[in-house]
Amino acid sequence: MKQVIRVTGVGSYLPSRILTNEDLSRMVDTNDEWVKARTGISQRHIADDGQFTSDLGAEAAKAALKAAGLTADDIDLLVCATATPDYTFPSTATIIQNKIGMRQGAAFDVGAVCSGFVFALATADGLMRNSGFKKALVVGAETFSRILDWSDRTTCVLFGDGAGAVVLEEDTAEDDAQIGLLGHNLRTDGSYKDLLYVDGGPSVTQTVGHLRMIGNQVFKHAVVNISSAVENLLTTTGVDHNEIDWFVPHQANQRILDGVAKRLSIDSAKIVSTVGKHGNTSAASVPLALAEAIDDGRVKSGNLVLTEAMGGGFAWGANLFRL
Ligand code: UT7
Repeated sequence: MKQVIRVTGVGSYLPSRILTNEDLSRMVDTNDEWVKARTGISQRHIADDGQFTSDLGAEAAKAALKAAGLTADDIDLLVCATATPDYTFPSTATIIQNKIGMRQGAAFDVGAVCSGFVFALATADGLMRNSGFKKALVVGAETFSRILDWSDRTTCVLFGDGAGAVVLEEDTAEDDAQIGLLGHNLRTDGSYKDLLYVDGGPSVTQTVGHLRMIGNQVFKHAVVNISSAVENLLTTTGVDHNEIDWFVPHQANQRILDGVAKRLSIDSAKIVSTVGKHGNTSAASVPLALAEAIDDGRVKSGNLVLTEAMGGGFAWGANLFRL
């Protein structure tokens, strides 16, 4: 028998307020046709004034716990991926820990921006295998609406708020079983910082700052980097792309999703796409998409799922797991 780390529950939360392309066309010089054609996005959810990243994350965490049939008392590790923390410190993870009533274990944040959830899943997997944690919550939660420059049409139309979470549980399985988290591929290259960054922070400006992106240059790297992460992951895990049941990518742009799937010869019917309704929710996008596809019955127990993401850093990567 061998140790396995299984995904046993998935949950998500979206704030109720919706901002459409039509709404945005009254704020900046843009239009529904341009945004839909270039990105696939029709609308995005925006957190209310008094609603923080930790609130979104806590709701998603509670939904994931419910789906797993567990309570906060069962969890000994909480990893939160976010680039829009409530505060500089304490970590948003510890705020979520408190909000869900988790009184034991450890909680901390992972910062890899849009790839945050992919990095957090790999981090929790490693800690569970090597440091004795038995049941974990991995949360991706963001309020990007708070770091957008709402007068910049090249960025403000792209992002939204939301949160998603998964529960991981340690288990055992036959040595030849291909179950649970099967592998991860993580990469960063800090030399691309100026293509996608926030122009403020506690150490440099003592402010929060706004998101800045040279979108078309990020786009050029996205398809190549993501495809390479996925190919490396499939090679190291010995899995053929034809075996993948569902491709649950980071939701930045429908054209990136399609480009990656085409390059990797993944059937478009296997792509879970939520970018049209959610926009780019950064670290929340993969678990939000996964939760939606589980809720509507597409992704089922036993399915082989491939995730990927790429964003600021640059940071990019992929995870492979069988539910
Ligand atoms: O998750 C983090 C990673 N981020 C990404 O992966 C995002 C990657 N980038 C993209 O998704 C795309 O590059 C964008 C959606 C951001 C932009 O699409 P694009 O096809 O690369 O357009 P572009 O930036 O080359 O701009 C084309 C034109 C420009 O006008 P000119 O210079 O050709 O006259 C822009 O000023 O579109 C203009 N434009 C807009 N027009 C209407 C830019 N934003 C808008 C807008 N509405 N909102």
